[in-house]
Amino acid sequence: MATVIKVIGSDPHLLRLLRETGLTCVSTPLESLASLARADMPLPTVLVLDLRDQKEFPSELGVIKRQHPATGVLLVVSSLEPRLMLEAMRAGVNELLADPLSDADVQAAIKRLVGSQAATVRGDVFAFVGAKGGVGTTTVAVNVAAALAKSGAESTLLIDLNTVCGDAAVFLGVEPRFSVVDALANVQRLDAAYFGGLVVRSKFGLDLLGASGRPVSSSFDASRMRTLLEFVSHAYRYTVLDVPRSDATALDALEGATKIVLVVNQELATVRNASRMAATLRERYSQARLSLVLTRTDRRAEIGLDDVERTVGMDVSHSFPSDYRLALQAMNKGRPIALDPQTELAHAFITFAHDLGGAKIEKRSKQEKSRADGLLGRLAPRKA
Ligand SMILES: Nc1ncnc2c1ncn2[C@@H]1O[C@H](COP(=O)(O)OP(=O)(O)OP(=O)(O)O)[C@@H](O)[C@H]1O
Ligand SMILES: [Mg+2]
Repeated sequence: MATVIKVIGSDPHLLRLLRETGLTCVSTPLESLASLARADMPLPTVLVLDLRDQKEFPSELGVIKRQHPATGVLLVVSSLEPRLMLEAMRAGVNELLADPLSDADVQAAIKRLVGSQAATVRGDVFAFVGAKGGVGTTTVAVNVAAALAKSGAESTLLIDLNTVCGDAAVFLGVEPRFSVVDALANVQRLDAAYFGGLVVRSKFGLDLLGASGRPVSSSFDASRMRTLLEFVSHAYRYTVLDVPRSDATALDALEGATKIVLVVNQELATVRNASRMAATLRERYSQARLSLVLTRTDRRAEIGLDDVERTVGMDVSHSFPSDYRLALQAMNKGRPIALDPQTELAHAFITFAHDLGGAKIEKRSKQEKSRADGLLGRLAPRKA
């Protein structure tokens, strides 16, 4: 998001010093402070409050900081009185400057505020793209997200980038009121409070930004998608994307992704598509960020694992066994398979999530392990 300084006050000297930082600077009167305290108000990167003409410390400031903790607040005062410094500290003010203001002090304070934001840790973004419709991409994406969310205290988000007719919500048994379309249409408003109103939280702690339930005519450019991905990567430890393979805009906006996972099965048309898609994605995002997974694996299938790897030109890093009854049952119940670790398929999803995110996976009982190893030994492909 663009770095913006909002200035409460109108001293031309202060405004000039702030504009010299090269950042966008907007000035508003003190009366607008009350409206900024609302949780749904988007806040700038930096808020500068000129209190030199004010007798009272604005009580709204503490509320603003609590609602928008990421916004850096700089207070400009006539002198550093202890009472005022105490109030500023209680309100969570980040920087304090007193008269006379020097260019160097203002520059340094703004640099510290903007710098501390830039340094905030980025979370991982895992993008899942199916080589063909119906291969099982959403099933993999939902279950990886569920495993990551369940595995610890890390915040996890699933975004159904199918702007229309996405079905990730069904897999989670939730009914989102808002969708990815709302987020893309309002990227300039994105902040924690606004985004929090768009997502729906599942019972086990995974947030979902769902697909639109209605057909939408507006198409969004890649820059909006990038802004959304940039925002979520700072707001969540893990973000899982269910990417429609036919959406060129979404496919072009994945620079921020930690991994792009191509999902295939053992069908001829899928494998052929996968080969073409892998070449395109490799060229666009580099081989290192790309991985290939095989789902609904069938040992008796005519096209074997080696054939898939040879055709696509990559190793299959993980594979997920075929279990149609379980997959269907999970969808009907709105409870991801990965939440109940006793099945083979759940274990494969949990292991994959673990390898992707380094999250703690649940330890299986010895009995479960030996059962799984027996089958896995025959089914699991070699690791990349
Ligand atoms: N490992 C599996 N074993 C058996 N069936 C599976 C497995 N994974 C998914 N399925 C089934 O395959 C069907 C398609 O799954 P899913 O919706 O995940 O695919 P998709 O690639 O996202 O499809 P679309 O292109 O429509 O978005 C569903 O009926 C699902 O239950
Ligand atoms: Mg899908």
